[in-house]
Amino acid sequence: MSRKAPEKAYPALIDAHLEELRAIVGREFVLTDEDALHNHSHDYTEDLRFLPQVVVRPDTAEQVAAILRFCNRTGIPATPRGAGTGLSGGALPVLGGVVIAMDRFNRILSIDERNLQATVEPGVINQVFQDAVMEKGLFYPPDPASRGSCFLGGNLAECAGGPKAVKYGVTKDYVLNCQVVLPSGEIIWTGANVLKNSTGYNLTQLLIGSEGTLGIITRIVFRLVPLPKENLLMLVPFRSAEKACEAVSAIFRTGITPSALEFMERDCIEYVMRFVDVKVPLKDDINAHLLIEVDGNDRDVLFKECERISEVLYEFECDEILFADTTQQKADLWKARRSAGEAVKSHSIYKEEDTVVPRAELPRLLKGVKAIGTKYGFRSVCYGHAGDGNLHVNIIKEEMSDEAWQREVPKGIREIFELCVSLGGTISGEHGIGYVQKQYMDIPFDPVQLELMKGIKRLFDPNGILNPGKIFPDA
Ligand code: LAC
Ligand code: ZN
Repeated sequence: MSRKAPEKAYPALIDAHLEELRAIVGREFVLTDEDALHNHSHDYTEDLRFLPQVVVRPDTAEQVAAILRFCNRTGIPATPRGAGTGLSGGALPVLGGVVIAMDRFNRILSIDERNLQATVEPGVINQVFQDAVMEKGLFYPPDPASRGSCFLGGNLAECAGGPKAVKYGVTKDYVLNCQVVLPSGEIIWTGANVLKNSTGYNLTQLLIGSEGTLGIITRIVFRLVPLPKENLLMLVPFRSAEKACEAVSAIFRTGITPSALEFMERDCIEYVMRFVDVKVPLKDDINAHLLIEVDGNDRDVLFKECERISEVLYEFECDEILFADTTQQKADLWKARRSAGEAVKSHSIYKEEDTVVPRAELPRLLKGVKAIGTKYGFRSVCYGHAGDGNLHVNIIKEEMSDEAWQREVPKGIREIFELCVSLGGTISGEHGIGYVQKQYMDIPFDPVQLELMKGIKRLFDPNGILNPGKIFPDA
């Protein structure tokens, strides 16, 4: 679906504006050719496209500040963009204007082994950073499925999670401080480079997850943890997907916290095996799998933990548990899991929901999602971070008519989200609200809560020039 940005709401960009942008970042970093505009018109969210009028590629905070001052003066909207791997449309320039591409902010500035901290720019790829700290025996756990290409700045914007979150927490748990350019063009630091901080409001955490609507992050100070030396991985087949979900909370009641506890429905594995070159054993009567990892420094302890977890799993009628013996087997299983989203996407037009509930409610969520699908006539493929109660519900279009897709699916999504909230959960665990979920924000929040959030937005961005059209139903 290709959409041209509506031109009425904001002033059009004229040649004099382009000259001004060229003066800020340099001629070669102001892009207006068709390819560049198309490349920056979409992210990983469904098939949505919105053309910007220009793409600029700054590489200092001062340049970002000058661009935002320009936008404030002219009223032309700015949309910050990382690697474009987002799943809620946060980086889509839905009202056109300027895309601020952060790819030149790609330096790891320091890794401080004395303090277990690192300072980086936001355009560093997640995995590049993970590998760099790993070389020093350190660990940066947040590992979204797109870690091979996503930028750390985007991870902060959406508060990305990933499989390790269940034991180690999500992006917000690793950010100590960040440098941010405000829509006014002022440059601030949000906190201090310390592990404890009870000094005033927590601007760092306010910025994280704000989806590029409050400021543009230009530098990040992370905390790191020591790298665990060992891990064990097991794949657990179940005949009943609901039983697999029931087993999840029972595992934690043993006192063991796995370093990953992922859920995949049968269809998800079938799509993955068609999409990437990995083989996952899949008997005819198996309907779901849990992928469970434990990590630490003592292999014997890990074996005992796996034994204890296995005892619990058999209580939930799992089939024979498969242990990944080699590094290759582990890599294959993780490749299968990490490819799930793209594999489903390659199968059919789809909508991906990022539901999250308290983990013991997972069986009720899964059952409810299937019942709602039956009611509105759609099929869903579910997978996700079961240990976090975070289920990615992929609604598949397949043979559904366009009319039914447009009329029935939003009703079904609304009902799924209402179910999440009634179970004590909410409508996004790690993908954000961005453009595609904003119409559902009235489900987790009442008008008082929404008005508080809008007030914050107005305080940061009184002219509404930074990433407009996101988060709020009427944005
Ligand atoms: C995953 C992404 C879609 O978990 O969040 O694969
Ligand atoms: Zn995920």
